[in-house]
Amino acid sequence: MEKIIVPLGTRSYPIHIGAGLLDSLGVYVREALGDITVAVVTDDNVAPLYLGRAVRSLQSAGLTVKSITLPHGETTKCLNRLSDLYNFLCHARITRRDAVIALGGGVIGDLTGLAAATFLRGVHFVQLPTTLLAQVDSSVGGKVAVDLPQGKNLVGAFYQPDLVLIDPDTLNTLTDEFWRDGLGEVVKYGCINDAALFALLEECAPGGREALMTRIETILQHCVQAKADVVAQDERDTGLRMTLNFGHTIAHAVETCQHYEGLRHGEAVSLGMHIITRLTEARGITAPGTADRLDALLTALNMPMQLPAIPEADLLAAMGMDKKSAGKTLRVIVLQEIGRCHIHPTDVSFFNGMTSA
Ligand SMILES: NC(=O)c1ccc[n+]([C@@H]2O[C@H](COP(=O)([O-])OP(=O)(O)OC[C@H]3O[C@@H](n4cnc5c(N)ncnc54)[C@H](O)[C@@H]3O)[C@@H](O)[C@H]2O)c1
Ligand SMILES: [Zn+2]
Repeated sequence: MEKIIVPLGTRSYPIHIGAGLLDSLGVYVREALGDITVAVVTDDNVAPLYLGRAVRSLQSAGLTVKSITLPHGETTKCLNRLSDLYNFLCHARITRRDAVIALGGGVIGDLTGLAAATFLRGVHFVQLPTTLLAQVDSSVGGKVAVDLPQGKNLVGAFYQPDLVLIDPDTLNTLTDEFWRDGLGEVVKYGCINDAALFALLEECAPGGREALMTRIETILQHCVQAKADVVAQDERDTGLRMTLNFGHTIAHAVETCQHYEGLRHGEAVSLGMHIITRLTEARGITAPGTADRLDALLTALNMPMQLPAIPEADLLAAMGMDKKSAGKTLRVIVLQEIGRCHIHPTDVSFFNGMTSA
């Protein structure tokens, strides 16, 4: 069992990582927040797998429990479902001393977090993330949001939870598609600030998902610590937190050009890390051999490195880099070597030739 504190002054909170924590949810919530009512929010894939155990654990600790199950998928992260949640919280008679618990992936975490941040001007918030992406990324850092038809995450807040419980056993039921999705971000942490994590991934990757699962607590601990360190120094995303966007400029462009119906986010990030590191190594910004090492790991993890057939001009346009951007300063996250990155000021010409990298 591991405990990582996200140090944010009076809003500091613990993230516990350990197999079987789901069955201790009630004990942890009761200890942190006392004798309260809890409103559990989940989706229809997660409910049949884990909602019963979560509710039993909370009830055994003497807490009053209400729950709601929403449809799964990104379309749930919207204003209509947010409004459904407000209705549910009213019916459940949630007060400011009570808590909302997100049981699910990043969609449930982001939506529930925004409801928690805004209902009654803020109620307690607990996360029990059940996807790899949610465990290493979306449940750490306090960004909560819903999408608008005009774009992703356009309505949101910074709202830190009171408690996060990560139970790696929940990953056993994840499809390979969503497992790989989370791996993109895991590799990213290794690249930007944790060479030991990168080496551990190199060691396990040939054994596939099974081998990675034998070391999963350590892997999760490294990722959560890496993100917590960055968030603690730049909670509001005005500087250092940018480094978490390594590989993401290209990834977002690919996702936009494919209308979010092609590569999944983590796969697009994998591709983005590969392309940018090839570019920067060729230009002497990144230590020789880094791109080969990264590519070998991504290959062993079965992550995509082949850019889909999208014209370079379309990708540049999706990055907001058309002719009008000439001369504009761009800040791109680049690796010096595995485990070390920096923010590199450059201009739009930086990405020229990326489709042949
Ligand atoms: N807040 C942040 O800082 C942050 C960071 C990264 C991503 N995000 C957001 O996270 C979202 C993506 O998160 P996600 O990939 O977890 O998506 P998700 O919540 O849609 O979960 C992926 C799928 O897995 C299912 N699922 C969840 N847990 C499962 C389990 N244990 N076993 C079997 N199936 C399970 C879900 O029902 C869903 O179908 C996006 O909306 C993204 O914007 C937020
Ligand atoms: Zn990402």
